[in-house]
Formats: sequence, structure tokens, C-alpha cells
Amino acid sequence: KILILDFGSQYTQLIARRVRESGVYCELHPYDVTAEFIERFSPQGIILSGGPASVVEIETPRAPQIVFELGVPVLGICYGMQTMAAQLGGIVENAVVREFGYAEISTTGGGTLLMDIQDRIDTQGQNILDVWMSHGDKVETMPPGFQVMALNAATPIAAMADEQRRFYGIQFHPEVTHTLQGKAIIDRFLHDICNLGRDWNMPDYVEEAIGRIRATVGHDGVILGLSGGVDSSVAAALIHKAVGDQLTCVFVDNGLLRANEARQVMDTFANHLEVKVIHVDASRIFFERLKGVNDPEEKRRIIGREFVEIFQGEAEKIIDAQWLAQGTIYPDVIESAGGKTKKANTIKSHHNVGGLPETLHLKLLEPLRELFKDEVRELGLALGLPRDMINRHPFPGPGLGVRILGEVKYEYAELLRHADQIFIEELHRAGWYQKTSQAFAVFVPVKSVGVMGDGRTYEYVIALRAVQTQDFMTANWAELPYSLLGKVSNRIINEIRGINRVVYDISGKPPATIEWE
Ligand code: XMP
Repeated sequence: KILILDFGSQYTQLIARRVRESGVYCELHPYDVTAEFIERFSPQGIILSGGPASVVEIETPRAPQIVFELGVPVLGICYGMQTMAAQLGGIVENAVVREFGYAEISTTGGGTLLMDIQDRIDTQGQNILDVWMSHGDKVETMPPGFQVMALNAATPIAAMADEQRRFYGIQFHPEVTHTLQGKAIIDRFLHDICNLGRDWNMPDYVEEAIGRIRATVGHDGVILGLSGGVDSSVAAALIHKAVGDQLTCVFVDNGLLRANEARQVMDTFANHLEVKVIHVDASRIFFERLKGVNDPEEKRRIIGREFVEIFQGEAEKIIDAQWLAQGTIYPDVIESAGGKTKKANTIKSHHNVGGLPETLHLKLLEPLRELFKDEVRELGLALGLPRDMINRHPFPGPGLGVRILGEVKYEYAELLRHADQIFIEELHRAGWYQKTSQAFAVFVPVKSVGVMGDGRTYEYVIALRAVQTQDFMTANWAELPYSLLGKVSNRIINEIRGINRVVYDISGKPPATIEWE
């Protein structure tokens, strides 16, 4: 197993992810863990992450000296390389030329880590690697025993190795995909240098995660707000597997869910997995509170506040609960705390449950906080959750509330639910659901004139939205086939009384957002 010591880089979790992808077990810990901890952990290799500090200044982070005394391979990345150099007798200085972003380095052929790994050979016969750099300092003089593995004009020591002791330092980031050979380099370190096999996988992760949850929670009660979304569902399934009936889920139906959503959630969790789920049908309260409210932000505030109130009321009844579990995943952690793994405990405000741990005096349990979305999905499948629940498009906390423009009414919600169901069904049929990142219908409370049979109609408009995106920060509208759009439009107008016009949203993000409100 691999120990990753975190010096605070925004990429540290990516290192962990790459190691897991290579089938090797790893744990990520702060750089200042004790020597005893490291000895007890007994790693077969250690990776020192990058970080924002400068080795040149005194009192900046250093690796525990034992890292270099255990006789195991060590890979220092960026700041990790610099602290390695400084701690072993080399010299680090502020670089005159800083490098941020894409860079080319040429390898010297020395050092197992980079040997025969290259992107191309240039006209002078040099082996070139395309890498991602992000540094202000650089190693000026290597410690005794090291040789240069790679260099460029700005950074004459871009990678260094002490083959005898199996210590490697690289100034660039192999964990980001911009470094094309990054995976090959990490694989080389894990499999060839540390001699680790590819024997770790998701079922192992489940076992380990269960062990950790049991150790943390003991005999205490845990409550979790189940939304039907992927993250809270996977968290619920995992925690239930770990502590069984100590877990109680609260599922609040706000009347703004998708078609059949409440039934599906109850089927999967309460009936199938036998998780204790308190199903609160609060739709009337929500529609009541939203009456006459048109402003999108005001609507969000009302829906969020009402949810917290209802959830809190239910939670207070579960008197033995000490823990509030949440399906926070790693991207949420970065978003809310700038990637500082040590102090990343703010909760994304749109997670709906912000503030709850304080008022309820509960401790936070977040078993997914080190995982990326696709890992969460894989974990969900390993836990036996249904594939369509796992592969479902994201759904915002305020639900259909932000897809009914202006005032939210029960009648509108019913029309929208039906239209959305038809759209999603046809996307599945046409094989387009998995090709889009998010797709849904929007209720436009505008009436337009139509003709059906021999009669005039004067009814509402449904807009269809389908986008493709990597990270939901930017998105393109999906080029759905006209035939598919035509079919959806026909079905919606024919099957739903009250809708006589369907339009397709062809706005990108930016400037439009994905949701209409
Ligand atoms: P926008 O509309 O800002 O949405 O382009 C980006 C992504 O975030 C989702 N979204 C939300 N998710 N609570 C959530 O849990 C919210 O209040 C919320 N608002 C937007 C949206 O569905 C899209 O995936």
C-alpha cells in the first residue's frame, strides 16, 4: 500500500485517484503525521504531494524524516520534490523563470521512473515529454546521490533520481491529464519501482470503507437526508451496510420530484435494501409556502428553508442520533474549501442541509468525501444499487421548483412531471440518455394559440433542455436528432392536455445556465 502525504496541493486527491485507478491501495494523510503513524502504516511506497508553500522559507512544511529512512521508494511531486531535495542536502531557490501550465521537458535516459517514457523524439533526437508545471521555486542543487532525469531551459532539474535509495523527484504533475504520460509514470512508480500488483478494487474499497465507518460511529445512531440522487443514495447504502439499523434515512417529498421518484426511492431503500426510511410527504406545505412567489432566489430560499425545518423536526425525534451523514463527494469539497483537504469542511450551500449539524448538535459523517463522481457510481454498483439509479442525470435540490418558471402550482408541477417523463423515456429509447449529461423539461407559464382537430387551443408551453458537459460549469446544448425531438413533441402535445407547444432550448452555458432559474 501507498502512503500519500498531503502538502496542500489542489491536485492531491487526484494523485490518490490515479493510484486507485492503477489498482493499488492508498491512503492520503496530512504531511505532519507522526513517525510512529508512518511506521505503523508500513507503506511500500510514499508519495509526497505538491503544495502552495515555499521550501525557501523557514517554517514551511517538511516531510517527517522517517520517510527517507524506511528504505521504501519515495516519489516527490513538485513541492514534494523540493522538500525532498532540501531535506536530503540539496538546495532549492526561487526560480527566476516561473513555469505555469504546459511545458516540454527532455529526458536524459537515466532513472527507472522515466526510462523509455516519452511523447515524441524531436529533431535533435531528444526524448520529449509534454508535462503540466506549476511552480515558482526549483531545485538548484541536487542532494548527494541524485542524477538528473529530465530538464528544460527554465528548469535544469525538472526530474531527479537516486536509484540506489529509490528516491524520485519530479517538478511536474503526473496526476493531471495534461501530462499525457502521467499515468505511465505513476504506473512505473507503483508497479515497477514499488513492486505492487494491481490487486485493489472497488469491493475492497467497500470493505475498508465499512471498517472505517464502524470505527468512527461505534454504537451511535446516524441520520441521513435521502434525496434519491446518486450521492446520498450511495452514502445511504454504504452506511447501512456498515451499521445496519443504526442508520435512519429521512426522505422528504416536497412535491417537486420527478415522476415516480418517491416510489422508486422507497422501493429501493425501504423494501429492497431494508433501510429504515422515514418518508415525509410534505408536498402540501411546500406548495402552500410557494403560493404567489415569483422570484427564483426567493423560491430557492423557501424550498431550502422548508426542507431544513422538516428534516430537523424528523431528526429531533431520532433521539439516539449522534451523526449526520451526507453524500458530500470530493468535487463538493474542492468547491467549498479551495481544495485544502485539512480544513475542507464547509458544506456546499445548495446541498440543502447547510447549518444542520450545528443546530442539531450532530457530528458530520461523510464517507464519500474522497471520491470522484465516477468512483461514487462504481461504488454504488458494487453495493448493488440499481444501474438506472446510479446513472441518473443530476437533479437540483429545489427540484421542479426551478423548472416551473415563476409561481409554482401543483397543476403546473403535474404537467411538467408528465412532460419530463415522456422526454426522458424517449431519450432512453433512442439511446441518447447516456449521451447527454442532463436533460429535462421546463414549464413555461405562457399560453399560445394552437389548433387541434377543428378547435382552437390556448395552452401552455413546454421547453426541452438537453446538455453535454464535463463539469457542469460550461455546457453545450445537445444536438439531438430532429426525429427524436419531433417524436417527443408529438407525444407531449398529444398525451398531455394543457400543453399545445414544445420548443427546444439551444442556448449554451455560458451565457445561459443549465437550469432556467
Ligand atoms: P446551472 O443551472 O447553474 O446548474 O447551470 C449547474 C448544475 O447544478 C445543478 N443545480 C443545483 N443542484 N441544488 C443542487 O443540488 C441547486 O440549488 C442547484 N441549482 C442548480 C443543475 O441541475 C446543474 O446540474
